[in-house]
Amino acid sequence: MWLLTVLLLWVPVDGQVDPTKAGITLQPPWVSVFQEETVTLQCVGPRVPGNSATLWFLNGTATPTSTPSYSIASASDRDSGEYRCRTGLSVLSDPVQLEVRRDWLLLQVSSRVVMEGEPLALRCHAWKNKQVYNVFYYQNGKVIKSFNRNSDLTIPKTNINHNGIYHCSGMGRNRYTSAGVSVTVKELFPAPVLKASVTSPLLEGNLVTLSCETKLLRQRPGLQLSFAFYMGSKTLQGRNTSSEYQILAARSEDSGLYWCEAPSKHNSVSK
Ligand SMILES: *[C@@H]1O[C@H](CO)[C@@H](O)[C@H](O)[C@H]1NC(C)=O
Ligand SMILES: *[C@@H]1O[C@H](CO)[C@@H](O)[C@H](O)[C@H]1NC(C)=O
Repeated sequence: MWLLTVLLLWVPVDGQVDPTKAGITLQPPWVSVFQEETVTLQCVGPRVPGNSATLWFLNGTATPTSTPSYSIASASDRDSGEYRCRTGLSVLSDPVQLEVRRDWLLLQVSSRVVMEGEPLALRCHAWKNKQVYNVFYYQNGKVIKSFNRNSDLTIPKTNINHNGIYHCSGMGRNRYTSAGVSVTVKELFPAPVLKASVTSPLLEGNLVTLSCETKLLRQRPGLQLSFAFYMGSKTLQGRNTSSEYQILAARSEDSGLYWCEAPSKHNSVSK
C-alpha cells in the first residue's frame, strides 16, 4: 500500500492583477467608515503620459470627479455605494462598496471579498475614535482574538476558513457590540488529490503514472498552476506545468511517501 500525501502551492506567474484593469485603493484602508470621517479613494491604473484624467462612477453613474483621487472630507449617507474607476489606458475597476454608518462601534475590514492567499485587516473602531478596552473579535459568533488595549487584527494569508461574518465588541462606558460584516474568501483551487494509475497490489516493473489533480477555479491573467513531485524529501520532478509524473518500472525501492506541489514566486497558497 502506498501512502500518498499531497502538497500544492499556487503560482501567480507575473503579478496577480490584470495590468489593464484599474484598481481602487482606500486611505485609510477601510471599506466602511463612520459619518463625518475622511476617506480618499485612489484609482490605480495605466495612463497616457501627461494625462491624469480619471473617470469615477458611483452606483453606476459618472461623477464630476476627474482626478486620480476621490476625496470624501466628511462622509455622509450620500457617499455610500459602489465605486468604480478607470484611467486613460485601463478598463473599469472591480467595484468597491463603501458603507457610511452611524453606530458606537464599527468593525472595519480592508476588503469584503479577498482572493485566497491575500491578507485581510480588521479594525474595531469606536465612534469619534474613543478608546475602548477588552476588545473581542468574533468570526461566526466565536471569539478569535482579544486585546486588552484595542488593536487591529491582521490575517496575513487568508484561506477559505476565513469566510464568515465578523464582528467585534469592546468596553467603553458600556460594552458595545458592532454590527456583523460578511467576508468572502474566494478559493483559487480545491485541495489537490494525488492519484496513481495503478490498482493495488502494485507489481514490480509496472508503469505508474502519478497525477496531481486540481484546477484553478478562477482564471486571472498571469496565473497558472505548476507542479512538483517528491518522494519523501527527494525531488522527483521540479516545477513543471505538467501535472503528471511517471515511474517507468516500479521497484520495491520506489515504495514510500509521495507528494506533489506547485510552487509560486509571490503569494503562494499551499494545500
Ligand atoms: C448608492 O447605492 C446605495 C445602496 O443601494 C445607497 O445606499 C446610496 O444612497 C446610493 N448612493 C447614491 C449617491 O446614489
Ligand atoms: C516538464 O516536463 C516535461 C515532460 O516530462 C519535460 O519534457 C520538460 O522539459 C519539463 N520542463 C521543465 C521546465 O522542467
